[in-house]
Amino acid sequence: MEKITEIPKWDTKDPSPNLKRLDNDQIEAYEIHDLLDSSECEKIIDLMNKNHIPSTLATSDGAIKNSTRTSSSAFFDNEDPFIKSIEQKISEAIGIDVSYGEPLQGQIYKVGEYYAPHLDYFNKKDENIYNQFCGDRGNRTWTMVIYLNDEGLEGGETNFPKVNVSIKPKRGKAACFRSMNPNGRMNRLTLHSGQKVTKGSKYIITKWFRENPVNTHGNSNPSSPIETDDLSNIKASDITEKHYFSSIEELPYLDKKGVGFEKRKLPEHIWKMAQEAYDTLLPKITTEDPEEKWITSVIADEYGNNVCDIMSFDLIPEKRNKIHEALRPIVQEWIGEENPITPSALYGIRSYQKGAILDMHSDNFTTHHAGCIVMVDKKIEEDWALHCVDHNGETHKVYLEPGEFALYECAKTRHGRPEPLIGDWFRNFFVHYKLDNWEYKEVS
Ligand SMILES: [Fe+2]
Ligand SMILES: [Fe+2]
Repeated sequence: MEKITEIPKWDTKDPSPNLKRLDNDQIEAYEIHDLLDSSECEKIIDLMNKNHIPSTLATSDGAIKNSTRTSSSAFFDNEDPFIKSIEQKISEAIGIDVSYGEPLQGQIYKVGEYYAPHLDYFNKKDENIYNQFCGDRGNRTWTMVIYLNDEGLEGGETNFPKVNVSIKPKRGKAACFRSMNPNGRMNRLTLHSGQKVTKGSKYIITKWFRENPVNTHGNSNPSSPIETDDLSNIKASDITEKHYFSSIEELPYLDKKGVGFEKRKLPEHIWKMAQEAYDTLLPKITTEDPEEKWITSVIADEYGNNVCDIMSFDLIPEKRNKIHEALRPIVQEWIGEENPITPSALYGIRSYQKGAILDMHSDNFTTHHAGCIVMVDKKIEEDWALHCVDHNGETHKVYLEPGEFALYECAKTRHGRPEPLIGDWFRNFFVHYKLDNWEYKEVS
């Protein structure tokens, strides 16, 4: 057959004839039965049982909400010939070279565990997250999931709620779907969930493929973990010892007073800058589009409705940089010079509306290590407390007036506003810094 359009380098070229397209024209999804045999499934389950940790989640708004993904993740030894053979099978079935894959990951879902609706690819509009997770490799293009068990298992289907597709776990069966169309556009309709397991435990392995192969730098190991890009213009890392971490727990506590947060008044010049930014942005306030905002948001009213507007600092990049730089020495002084920091994120002024609840969460532990919450303006009937959990696990309520701010260890200090907002609106912004000498590394 003649090729009518050029197939992108990353795309599937010679897929297995056993791949059966699911009956849906809005997403491109396939099933392949018995990709793995029972002994392979058993062997992988065994490896997963020996080595797993609670799953975490990177989100576009810098939050890690464990209740979105309640499973455990397992990682494999990519040098193990058995794992290599599985990788090879997956690659041949989908028709994409192994070098385009991420390291294989396993997930275990016990009774009651699930994965809320999400997209597998990263939001390009969120530069920090995108650069952090995509770097040289580009976005995720295809996903393949293989179900390792079904006996005694109930629930745990992979659902695509926007297109009414549901895939039932079956031992050895693979399901794959395309996130990126051949023209480079992402398909939002691939939104999917791992339904709650109601009986037994669900074991799956997941393989994500990327736009670019891993060995662009002559790396001979195609299955090695993604190289994380050093995008944070690291200054001190050359002269100070470098640490690696793969979870929040491995990060150091920073507040030497042993609390994790502290309320202060903004210096006059910074408060002026914040007010100027607010004045400029207020006419441009927009509702955060729930489609754009990704489903992983932690802000909603009790029914899950979007009750948050945003005044994006994207519109005033220079002012953003100035505010980020102006607050840096204050945060730096608070955590001490021995832990140098670099600005990592400052999204915009969030305007919470009546009924808003900001769930307790910790911020993205890869890039949000220290920072502040700057209170800008409020029109309320009752003050709205920020809840912060200190190093000892005790929760405190912090009340902020315009011109005040709270320093906090964004990743280590769990925080939120779990009581519904009583009043018209409440506006603040979050300023994040990354530790220069601590680098996130995926567990392999
Ligand atoms: Fe997924
Ligand atoms: Fe947060």
